[in-house]
Amino acid sequence: MHERPHLSMTQATLVPHGTLDYAELRSLSLRPEDLTIFSSNVNPYGPPPTTLTALREAITHETVAQYPDRLSLELRDLLAAHHDLSADSILVGNGTADILWLIGLLHLQKRRVAILGPTFGEYHNVARTMQAEIIDLCHPGWVATATGYAPGATSMEEVARSLQKSSPDVVFVCNPNNPTGHYLAPNDLETLYAGAPHALWIADEAYGEFMQTPATTADWIRRGNWLVLRSMTKDFALGGLRLGYLLGSPTLVGPLQTTQPPWNVNLLAQIAGAASLRDGLAWRRQTLAALREETTALQAALRDQGYQPTPTTVNYFLVPVYSASELRRALLAQRLVVRDCTSFGLPHCIRIATQRPEANARLLDAMRPLASASAFPASGI
Ligand SMILES: Cc1ncc(COP(=O)(O)O)c(C=O)c1O
Repeated sequence: MHERPHLSMTQATLVPHGTLDYAELRSLSLRPEDLTIFSSNVNPYGPPPTTLTALREAITHETVAQYPDRLSLELRDLLAAHHDLSADSILVGNGTADILWLIGLLHLQKRRVAILGPTFGEYHNVARTMQAEIIDLCHPGWVATATGYAPGATSMEEVARSLQKSSPDVVFVCNPNNPTGHYLAPNDLETLYAGAPHALWIADEAYGEFMQTPATTADWIRRGNWLVLRSMTKDFALGGLRLGYLLGSPTLVGPLQTTQPPWNVNLLAQIAGAASLRDGLAWRRQTLAALREETTALQAALRDQGYQPTPTTVNYFLVPVYSASELRRALLAQRLVVRDCTSFGLPHCIRIATQRPEANARLLDAMRPLASASAFPASGI
């Protein structure tokens, strides 16, 4: 007898993310172009202008009609040179989210999967769908509460001990972490790794380039059980095209490559990725440096209003508030979109991704009159 597919295996609703919810916009009769988006962590200065030129020149009858290189060979060669790794250590995907599902297919099914929270929701989503046994652990500096997470004194060693005790097959660590913006330095990661040295580790470095000194654990892939996810949709602002990649030992990357749905990285995304690596690195450095200064200024201005934004290493940060959902609604009414962090287990936080100065000023104008009713102590998250 055939078993019917398990409907309960998958979610009945979409996992919330910071990108625009088009169904919600329809229900409110809002158009995307009416909104200023602080909820998605993409570089607000956009793709490198040289990348846009390369894309414009690339749109021809042939490039639109022909199939892309399913192995993304040219882009992989450029990434290999950029990271000083061999091309067979690299898998290109239709965004890192796409690669997460591929990892799920090959490595998470019915396995024991540790996730350090609060963090990006897609790890849970993939692991749950793959019927993995999820082991929820706290990121260092956070504790579990009845409703989610709160800042707390969990040390690196305690997390390592929890890893050792729970003995997972796979560990997800987002670094720098989304939504907190907290970064674990290599010696901290080393402490955690010692707790589960035989597990497969997935270090999600989607935001690594936003840090003052961009960091990567790319060279850890030589350990043979360390995979690194890198997104090009955030720093190079290619979210609409979708582009991300994975670094890993060739023995791990090979089976992922052969399992990947064919041609799923479109030709324009490959062209944009290659152009960004060839001519867009200075643009990335300059725009992300400007963004860091604007983040410092935005946090200072919010503090002046009575909010207590939490420290960050990247372009987004948490702001403790009485009700994230209510404040989000109030700001949406003014066409400003912030991330309600309830789905991260943080119902008393919004996440703000810094935008350009003029947009930041509008957010500050909108948040000022709401401060006395909304601002919440960081200690009370
Ligand atoms: C931590 C983290 N990883 C991965 C992704 C997915 O990025 P993409 O699929 O656009 O590369 C996101 C998107 O928000 C993210 O926040």
